[in-house]
Amino acid sequence: MSTSTKETVTVTNNSNGKQVEIPLHAGTIGPKVMDIRSLYGQMDLFTYDPGFTSTGSCKSTITYIDGDEGVLLHRGYPIEELAENCNFLEVAYLLLNGELPNLDQKADFEKSITRHSMVHEQINFFYRGFRRDSHPMAVLCAVVGSMAAFYHDSIDINNPRDRMVTQHRLIAKMPTIIAWAYKYSLGQPFMYPKNSLSYAENFLHMMFSIPCEETKVSPVLAKAMDRILILHADHEQNASTSTVRLAGSSGANPFACIAAGIASLWGPAHGGANEAVLNMLHQIGSVDKIGEYIKRAKDKDDNFRLMGFGHRVYKNYDPRAKIMQKTCKEVLDELDMHDEPLLKLAMELERIALSDEYFISKKLYPNVDFYSGIIFRAMGIPTSMFTSLFALARTVGWSAQWSEMIEDPDQKIGRPRQLYVGAPKRQFVPLGQRK
Ligand code: SDX
Repeated sequence: MSTSTKETVTVTNNSNGKQVEIPLHAGTIGPKVMDIRSLYGQMDLFTYDPGFTSTGSCKSTITYIDGDEGVLLHRGYPIEELAENCNFLEVAYLLLNGELPNLDQKADFEKSITRHSMVHEQINFFYRGFRRDSHPMAVLCAVVGSMAAFYHDSIDINNPRDRMVTQHRLIAKMPTIIAWAYKYSLGQPFMYPKNSLSYAENFLHMMFSIPCEETKVSPVLAKAMDRILILHADHEQNASTSTVRLAGSSGANPFACIAAGIASLWGPAHGGANEAVLNMLHQIGSVDKIGEYIKRAKDKDDNFRLMGFGHRVYKNYDPRAKIMQKTCKEVLDELDMHDEPLLKLAMELERIALSDEYFISKKLYPNVDFYSGIIFRAMGIPTSMFTSLFALARTVGWSAQWSEMIEDPDQKIGRPRQLYVGAPKRQFVPLGQRK
């Protein structure tokens, strides 16, 4: 698919008069891009963009975000319609394959995922090497990375079928691996997946059932969990997805690439924010303390930030946060927790922040992480597990983006350049002569 527009931008280096015509490419929607691949060769110049605030790393057909309008599309479908009308595996199929599945395709995909939900029995032993109070994301990084040592039979990353098998294995096994991390932290026996349950039901079953008593998973909670997974499935080239793409660009083992994505997602500025929101709400404690924390969030000398607020791309309300808030109310109603103090605190915090000039001027709105933690906590999921649930869902997006990267003819190993500001070349000083 050609994206060339025949239009160009002229870049002139005023210090030496050198000039270059930079070609522009256009996508389906969104800003055009300057193709600067020839810039260094023609102008002996690098670009400089820490955090990639204005830099596209790839072409993609998977997800599109319009940050100003608060729009999120997966393969062209608005997130609101997918969250309302699909289940998570249907959205997973869409993200992996580019089209919504028909009845047969949906049934076959769900059967494949269901049939891959067990893990190699020896993976079970990895958990025992961890302290019981290990952070689940540390366990997840290790156990998912260890899958590279087990699944060698379909690891030719240039074979589309092998990539599909790897994607299915990852998507199918993440609920089991994550639920087992929770069970291990409790000292309870691992629960195995049940093929009779849906994806979200199975996860909640493995999280909360015990061998001597099955947990009857509430359909409302299973639906809420399924919808939350949809909301976290993919999100363009965020930090963890970019990590997976960069790791994968060297041809690394896909399980190792996903483990790298998990590590990046763990950060509190990214997927770790849902855990950080709950900790922040507990820290604020009551509505009358909100003002003090809003003041701290605005204070440049204070590194406190309002967790669950702000976004690199959304300069409007994160559409996922709106759906999450609705789901939060549904779950609390189902659990008869209408007067959940944390929800009241969160909603009052949101109300005050959104009417504050600082947040308005900087276009800081609640993001996907602001309400998710309240839902998870209401479901009985410990705060330390929240980011693992984000990783569970984002494994779909990571897998789809990883495969798209490998199929991209423009794809090269990722190797950014730099602006060197260190010491100039200098004479070596033998040890005896150093001051
Ligand atoms: C996710 O990229 C994705 O798509 C991520 C994600 C996904 O689905 O993959 O959407 C998931 O990671 C959501 C974001 C979760 N993180 C948090 O909720 C942590 C709190 N938010 C911030 O750390 C921050 O908003 C970021 C990291 C999300 C975005 O930071 P940017 O884009 O680098 O913006 P910035 O730090 O340059 O902030 C711009 C200004 C700054 O003030 P000035 O230097 O211009 O004076 O806004 C301020 C910041 O200080 N600011 C905040 C703030 N977020 C930004 N001030 C107070 N509280 C905040 N939360």
